[in-house]
Amino acid sequence: MRNFISVDQLSNKEIYSVLKKAEYYRLKDFQVDHQLFVANLFFEPSTRTKTSFTVGQRKLGLEVLDFHSETSSVLKGESLYDTAKTFESIGANMLVIRHEADDWFYQLENKLSIPIINAGAGKAEHPTQCMLDLLTIFQEFGGFQGIKVAIVGDIKHSRVARSNVSALQRLGAEVCLCAASGFEDDDLEVPYISIDEAVQNCDVLMLLRIQYERHQQHTETMNYLEQYGLTKAREKQMKKNAIIMHPAPVNRGVEIDSDLVECSKSRIFRQMSNGVYIRMAIMMQLLEDWGILNENNFKERKTFAAVK
Ligand code: CP
Repeated sequence: MRNFISVDQLSNKEIYSVLKKAEYYRLKDFQVDHQLFVANLFFEPSTRTKTSFTVGQRKLGLEVLDFHSETSSVLKGESLYDTAKTFESIGANMLVIRHEADDWFYQLENKLSIPIINAGAGKAEHPTQCMLDLLTIFQEFGGFQGIKVAIVGDIKHSRVARSNVSALQRLGAEVCLCAASGFEDDDLEVPYISIDEAVQNCDVLMLLRIQYERHQQHTETMNYLEQYGLTKAREKQMKKNAIIMHPAPVNRGVEIDSDLVECSKSRIFRQMSNGVYIRMAIMMQLLEDWGILNENNFKERKTFAAVK
């Protein structure tokens, strides 16, 4: 793998290999044995993705270069390409990029000699979110074959939905969509069902945030929870072992009743923890595939108990 831009790049076997690696990093601490620099270039807001990349990088012993678009030369008109090229020239060994353009990667493709990871591309793709979602489902059900997944919410503006639909389908899950009028995306060839069918039949209820910032006009959501969201009454209709997921941030009281965000079926905070390990696995895979590191460059981090 030269860059990680879409889950579509990975075969099913490669997806399972990344999941296995992430589980390994969850259970054991490993560090690289020489100095490598990584830059997280976020041109859109982020809490989870940026922080989990940073934690993963620090756990692996990678040096994280500072970048905040709002205090950078982006304000002087510097382009994405020139920003990325600058970091490469200064010494970054890998770039993690989030940008509002669906196709930002094509401005950089074949123009840099370091690996690039997509941390979110407009409405198009969020592949590391998809991989952490897959890890969360895998931990719960041990596989994907026949698992019924309902993706519910603002499908039209969601990069998470687009990344997850294709990956889940080819891994054998039965995927359905559920959206309020105007939030559907006809490009996705997946059946739509009602919210009540979704909650009663699914094993995984994957709720999506209403992406107000991508809407062309004001969206009224006063009755959204009752009409399309996960209320307490609907949660009671879910199957015994079904789980609730949401990439977050959550609009509490809109997609989901606030009291359900941390209920026993919710895996929302587990998804965030998994984000650290899945991103570690993807970064290490790229550094290995580029020949920047090999297995001899890893050493187990000594814990306090081991040092004693
Ligand atoms: N799920 C997700 O991408 O969250 P952030 O926007 O906070 O990174």
